[in-house]
Amino acid sequence: MAVPGMLATIGASVRARASLSPRRFRLWVASAGLVAASLGCGPANVTYPFDYFPEMHYQSSFRFQEPPRRLPAVDSVPITGKEVAYNLAEAEGLKNPIPRNQLTLERGKRLYEVNCSVCHGLDAKANTEVAKRFTAAKANPPINLTRPETQRQQDGVLFWTITNGRGNMPAFKNILSEDDRWRITLHVRNLPSQ
Ligand code: HEC
Repeated sequence: MAVPGMLATIGASVRARASLSPRRFRLWVASAGLVAASLGCGPANVTYPFDYFPEMHYQSSFRFQEPPRRLPAVDSVPITGKEVAYNLAEAEGLKNPIPRNQLTLERGKRLYEVNCSVCHGLDAKANTEVAKRFTAAKANPPINLTRPETQRQQDGVLFWTITNGRGNMPAFKNILSEDDRWRITLHVRNLPSQ
């Protein structure tokens, strides 16, 4: 229902209940009209066209990152936060932080099946329909990951390729968590070498 219609309905019941004199009723209508006008005719495209009911918007509390801020304790080291973006040379020396056991290997295999096998194949030998299409389109196809050239690469390099992609291979940094990318690295390392 439109605001004026609503006010008319409320007005009628107000008049009936409070049995206002016609003069006071006219006053009531005029002030209700003012409220309606201010609600409806404020400047467009702003959050608060009229500070009729500011709620808790204006208050003396501190906003996000607004000083004064409490600083971390001296010598503290962040353990959460943004992932460090390594370049290839830096990635070479990285050690896989995921322990190698039955659980993590199974998880790595499963993640590989879901995310990689469409191009590299379940056996990682890149005998896939997608690989054929790449070749037909004269694009560099997915690589057989069991080949010695791949298996010789350090963990950090495999992790870097999965993270950032390479050539026609997509990057997985925004798709899989850092730990899951390391779990997949475990699986690639665990593939039977050719
Ligand atoms: C869209 C298809 C596609 C998907 C999905 C894909 N790759 Fe690749 N991958 C490629 C292509 C194409 C290359 C070759 C890149 C080049 O030409 O340098 C490649 C290269 C690689 C290499 C480098 C091998 C070497 O010998 O240097 C590794 C390692 C690899 N992929 C692992 C993976 C893993 C693990 C996944 C899943 C997380 C994955 N890829 C998902 C297409 C894909």
